[in-house]
Formats: sequence, structure tokens, C-alpha cells
Amino acid sequence: MSNVPMQIDPNAIDAQPDIVSSSEVLPSGQRVYFRPLRGDQAAELGAYFTSLSPATRRVYGPHPFDQETADGFCAALDSTHTLRMLAWVEEGEEGVERIVAYFVVELGVRAGDRQRYEALGLTLHDQTDCTLAPSVADAYQSQGLGSLMMQHLLGLLPRLGRQRLLLWGGVRADNPRAVHFYTKFGFRRVGDFEAGGTNNYDMIADLC
Ligand SMILES: CC(C)(COP(=O)(O)OP(=O)(O)OC[C@H]1O[C@@H](n2cnc3c(N)ncnc32)[C@H](O)[C@@H]1OP(=O)(O)O)[C@@H](O)C(=O)NCCC(=O)NCCS
Repeated sequence: MSNVPMQIDPNAIDAQPDIVSSSEVLPSGQRVYFRPLRGDQAAELGAYFTSLSPATRRVYGPHPFDQETADGFCAALDSTHTLRMLAWVEEGEEGVERIVAYFVVELGVRAGDRQRYEALGLTLHDQTDCTLAPSVADAYQSQGLGSLMMQHLLGLLPRLGRQRLLLWGGVRADNPRAVHFYTKFGFRRVGDFEAGGTNNYDMIADLC
């Protein structure tokens, strides 16, 4: 018996989203479904983006949060490059589904992040490294959802051939919840940099 997890072909995700989907129960008892973004979900993604509070946007800014951006992501869906993992819950008697978390994973390294890591003497690899920007809807933060989503991704990313996960644009030093969250999942702090008027940490985790 081999302990190597069964590999997933990233090229298959958009046609067969089920291969990277799963479901969990939140500590509150509510069921949550983890699925990658599909091309026909621009309205739901836009609703999530525009719902984010100023407090969340202050610490989370991988891209603009408007309907136009959601439309663009759905029109140009390509999970071989960027995996947009969503958490969905069912609400109301009708069981209408709503997005309550959005974790972006670029399967590779962004130019700005690479530059900072290289200045630290750390070489990053597009084929085996990946880059994370996570967010949870305001009403669901600090209730265990992010941790369940993270566990889902940590199980998945090695199966997509990824060996390390780094933070997209680092994490603000004045975001102690996020720093705690990353540390809990094995991220280590490798550097500091100034941006957005504050100090930020570069953090990276080994996946294998
Ligand atoms: C960061 C984020 C993704 C985490 O998801 P989440 O669902 O809130 O996380 P969880 O509830 O699973 O875990 C939060 C942890 O932080 C801890 N925590 C909460 N507030 C904290 C604080 N002020 N300081 C330190 N730790 C804190 C909780 O106790 C919990 O730790 P535990 O599991 O060891 O008990 C989410 O809070 C979020 O979207 N925040 C706003 C956007 C953001 O900061 N994104 C990251 C940008 S780099």
C-alpha cells in the first residue's frame, strides 16, 4: 500500500468540479459545501464580493470586490491557473444556496511575491508552489468555517502537485486573527515588509 495521495489533474477541474468538492458540518451544526467556482455563478460571487464589510476589505485585497470582477472571473474561468474555492450554505425554507467563504489559490507564484522571497534568498517554483488569499463572510468569521475550508485545501493541494503554500501579498501584522490562523496551519514567518501603511509578514507552509 502506498501513502502517496491520488493525484488530480488540474485540467479536469472545470469540467468535473466534483473531483475537488466536499462537504462538512460547522461547529454550529450547519452543513457547508466546498466547491470550486463555476462559470455560471457570477451573480452569487458578485453578491459575496459586494457583501464584504469595510473591515474585511481593509485586511483582504487580492483584487476589487465588485460585480464586474466576478463577471470577469466567471467569463475567464481557468482553475488550472487560479482555483477559486467557495463555501456554500443553504438558507431559508427554500434552501437557497449562498457563498460564505472564498479562498483564492493561484497555482503558481505571483511576480510581486516572488520578488520579496528572492530578496530573502528563497527560490519559489511555479510548478510546485501555490499562493493563497482566504476570506470568510463577515457573519461567519471566527466560527470555524475558515479552518474547515483550510483543511479541505490542505488535503487537496498536494494532490494537485503542490508542495508549498505561501500568502498572497503576505498578511498584515495588525491582523492577529489571520496570523494565528496561518500559524495554526503550519505557516512560518519568513520575512517582514511595509505595504498599505503597515508592517506585513511573508508566511509559507510546507504541504508534503
Ligand atoms: C482569516 C479568516 C480567513 C479565518 O477564517 P475564520 O473562519 O474566521 O477562522 P476560524 O474561525 O476557523 O479560526 C479563527 C482562529 O483565530 C482565533 N482568533 C479569533 N480572533 C482572534 C484574535 N483577535 N487574535 C488571535 N486569534 C484570534 C480563533 O480563536 C481561531 O483560532 P482557534 O481555531 O485556534 O480557536 C477570516 O477570519 C477572514 O476572512 N478574515 C477577514 C479577511 C482576512 O483577514 N483574510 C486574510 C488576509 S491575509
